[in-house]
Amino acid sequence: MNKKEKFIIRGLGGKRALKGRVSLNGAKNSALKAMAGAILFEGKVELNNIPNTEDVHTLNDILVDLGAKIQWKDNDPSSKTLYIDASTMNKTDINSEKAKVMRASVVLTGPMLARFGKVSFPAPGGCVIGARPIDLFIEGYKKMGATVRLQDEIYYIECPKLKEAEINFEKITVGGTETLMMASVLISGKTVLKNCAKEPEIVNVASWLNACGADIEGVGTDTITIVGTGGHLLKPQNSYRAIPDRIEAGSFLFLGALTAEELYIDNCNPEHLSLVIDLLKNSGVSIDIVDDKTIKITNSQNVENKSYRAFNVTTKEYPGFATDLQSPLVTFLTQCEGESAVTETIFEGRFKYVNDLVDLGARISVIDNNKAVVSGPTPLYQSQDNHLTAHDIRAGFAIVLACLIAKGNFTISNIHLIDRGYESLETRLRAIGADIRRE
Ligand code: UD1
Repeated sequence: MNKKEKFIIRGLGGKRALKGRVSLNGAKNSALKAMAGAILFEGKVELNNIPNTEDVHTLNDILVDLGAKIQWKDNDPSSKTLYIDASTMNKTDINSEKAKVMRASVVLTGPMLARFGKVSFPAPGGCVIGARPIDLFIEGYKKMGATVRLQDEIYYIECPKLKEAEINFEKITVGGTETLMMASVLISGKTVLKNCAKEPEIVNVASWLNACGADIEGVGTDTITIVGTGGHLLKPQNSYRAIPDRIEAGSFLFLGALTAEELYIDNCNPEHLSLVIDLLKNSGVSIDIVDDKTIKITNSQNVENKSYRAFNVTTKEYPGFATDLQSPLVTFLTQCEGESAVTETIFEGRFKYVNDLVDLGARISVIDNNKAVVSGPTPLYQSQDNHLTAHDIRAGFAIVLACLIAKGNFTISNIHLIDRGYESLETRLRAIGADIRRE
């Protein structure tokens, strides 16, 4: 990864000209948790359909620093198969610099506490999408009998033997649900987690752990019950396979609607996308579910001026509208007829990219930092300054999308943030006819 790299894009000027197929990768937000889950095993685990993204490499580095042995099949990340052997782990202090880059590394604390009885981790600061506290993790660990000390911005969490507990999350948290679920897998006794997140990625990881000896029930519902193994590590008798990345799928659905004459999205799970598909269909987008792995979007040729209908969205936990699709959605809505309101309820400060869309000609006002009102449709175009910046993974995609729609030539910097979640985005976009390159 070179942090100085940029995307250079020539926009389509409103033409729906892209054509072809894009294939989805495995879900990053599931793969990262499975990598953490590998710590619960007595030997080498096999993880399949792992995306070759920066976040995966960062977590890989953190695990190697802790002493784990990790290898890509044929030493090649494009093989998508990763082997992790945690039995050689010999450290319990998670590398602060790396962990600060990627908040998801906090998920390591659960399996590490379960296996080693202690872990230290840097207190997460604010990040570009707002404050991201870990109070719910800490509260859960205390309920399970751990002592927690915060010194010089490092959390020291210790508990030789985590005990059974009932933990009611005050707020629904994806990472908190996964981490405390994994912390409970090896205990003696039973943990009950209430008000849990229901994301399909959690189900994906839990199903694999269960196939290897864990006893986790109720995943995908409000209440998860884990009966611990009484200290026995899991057996790597079954490999893990990441489900298709539904956030990547949603991103490409918005992209297809605005830039493609015909786009097939392969290797997806349409069931995880039903809300987005319904919203887009109601807005006037022509979408066909070809089979259980393929979605097709069609636009009649040369429809430069066809716009879709505006609609309102509030982000919510799964099965609601994902906050991670909020920014591509807002870009989409700039091309819809009428006024739309998008309310963000999961993270504060997730509208920073809006200024860039406004610079490109969009009409959007942000109210109280949590609601964007979009009036459309507005053609997007190159303004005096054609340099844009990716603010976070998803906002980065939203800006790429806006540049592809717009008329003009653009440079997007900070694209290492896009690389955190989208593997080889420019290669896949070029394959369907986009004029985009990395420089
Ligand atoms: C995960 C996803 C991220 C997605 C988010 C919400 C990964 C790697 N990341 O992030 O892409 O946007 O779910 O779907 O899977 N909170 C607290 N205290 C805590 C923990 C969370 O107040 O201890 C708050 C957060 O600040 C936020 C809300 O709970 O407002 C939801 O966050 P959470 O579901 O935990 O998000 P992540 O797991 O970090």
